[in-house]
Amino acid sequence: MTPAESTPATITIDPAFTVGPVRRRTFGAFVEHLGRCVYTGIFEPDHPDADEDGFRKDVLELTRELGVSTVRYPGGNFVSGYRWEDGVGPVDQRPVRLDLAWHSTDPNSVGVDEFAKWSAKAGVEPMMAVNLGTRGVQEALDLLEYCNIDGGTALSEKRRANGAATGYGIRMWCLGNEMDGPWQIGHKNAQEYGRLAADTARGMRMIDPGLELVACGSSGPTMPTFGEWERVVLTETYDVVDLVSAHQYFEDSGDLQEHLAAGHKMEAFIRDIVSHIDHVKSVRKSTKQVNISFDEWNVWHMSRGESKVPSGNDWPVAPVLLEDTYTVADAVVVGDLLVTLLRNTDRVLSASLAQLVNVIAPIMTEPGGRSWKQTTFHPFALTSRHASGTVLQLAVESPLVSGGTTADFAALSAVATYDAAKGEAVVFAVNRSAAGALTLDAAVGGLGNVRVIEALTYSNKDPYWQATADDSSSVLPAENVTAKADGGHLTAELPAVSWSMIRLAVEA
Ligand code: AHR
Repeated sequence: MTPAESTPATITIDPAFTVGPVRRRTFGAFVEHLGRCVYTGIFEPDHPDADEDGFRKDVLELTRELGVSTVRYPGGNFVSGYRWEDGVGPVDQRPVRLDLAWHSTDPNSVGVDEFAKWSAKAGVEPMMAVNLGTRGVQEALDLLEYCNIDGGTALSEKRRANGAATGYGIRMWCLGNEMDGPWQIGHKNAQEYGRLAADTARGMRMIDPGLELVACGSSGPTMPTFGEWERVVLTETYDVVDLVSAHQYFEDSGDLQEHLAAGHKMEAFIRDIVSHIDHVKSVRKSTKQVNISFDEWNVWHMSRGESKVPSGNDWPVAPVLLEDTYTVADAVVVGDLLVTLLRNTDRVLSASLAQLVNVIAPIMTEPGGRSWKQTTFHPFALTSRHASGTVLQLAVESPLVSGGTTADFAALSAVATYDAAKGEAVVFAVNRSAAGALTLDAAVGGLGNVRVIEALTYSNKDPYWQATADDSSSVLPAENVTAKADGGHLTAELPAVSWSMIRLAVEA
């Protein structure tokens, strides 16, 4: 594609071709005891806008506006050294501990009871991780009993004494975190982890067979053990887990076109994981289907100063850590990653944007002060609000682009959802070209008569524009006046480096 010219790209949308349902759990997020995600993020009792439990009301409000479904807790790398018992009971008696994962100090003023309370206020489903780094089966069973048994046992009565009369009914449980990573406290090889995860899962199912359990998959496609890890772990756990996790982060290394390949790379990762799962399924001649929990994904500028962990004698409480400031281009990438997750809704059953507040997050706060939306907030909130019904399988014809080491990927990344009951179809379209616009021509005749209800595009002359506390709203998704539906075709101009959402009313 040459600069400044607009190139045609076509899609065909037909409700007869479907991928699967739009799942609310695709719009999950993640709250870890890391940096200022918990302390001065969701929880800040001294803040003027704190509620009676110490939660920031402004953050609760932004969380609801973001449209988050599930929230994974308490880590992350943090969970692999965590003693959940430290975070329950009278706050003034809770031990202060070193958090080895992030070289910080945790006062334990927030634990599972506070998180459950916060989740209820935010209207999100909690997703809990157990520590399989420094701990094992018994501690996982204890946490499950504490959380989910209504009463009549030692640990459930302890929870009742701590103020929660009934169990939390947490359905989704992660069996550890990134256990393939040498950085993980208690890192294990695939055989060791697979066996421990299977034993833990079997025990947890004895308490509640209906739990949805997630085994650790790989921490990214570049892990040297990727593939073999899934094979060995799933060979041990296939019958007792429902999902295998996937984690992937993307960084702008200075080549914008390469950065815009993120969705293409995620698509390839998902396809590979599916092959590894289905290989084990086939070898075991199993009729059961294990799927994917993509429970950490985002842009994370990992090599920048923001991610430098404290060291030496410095063990701060809630340090400024991983507080990346996002650009419009990063928001386009995040929008594309959501498009990719939706496009794979048949195999990706749950996903978590990592993370929710302050730490590589769409929501930022000042201690004692303001909160604001990063650029990445917008595509997430709009997709969560408007994607509904069924994900449609599209036929896409797109020019190709290349960037850095990634050659020949489609400039147009798109997905469409269709909600017959609502009489609405929504097209989410990303122009991944850094060089030129695309002229989108979508054949929509299969839907019947359509009319554009709303067309929004997020792009900017300077794709590196960033939102700050002082100016978070001068560049927002704006009306795309070029979007028109006529004679069975929807057409729209998609600027270079842009994310768009076009909502169509469909006549019955
Ligand atoms: O989300 C930040 C960190 O990234 C998590 O703690 C860890 O699981 C991953 O490596």
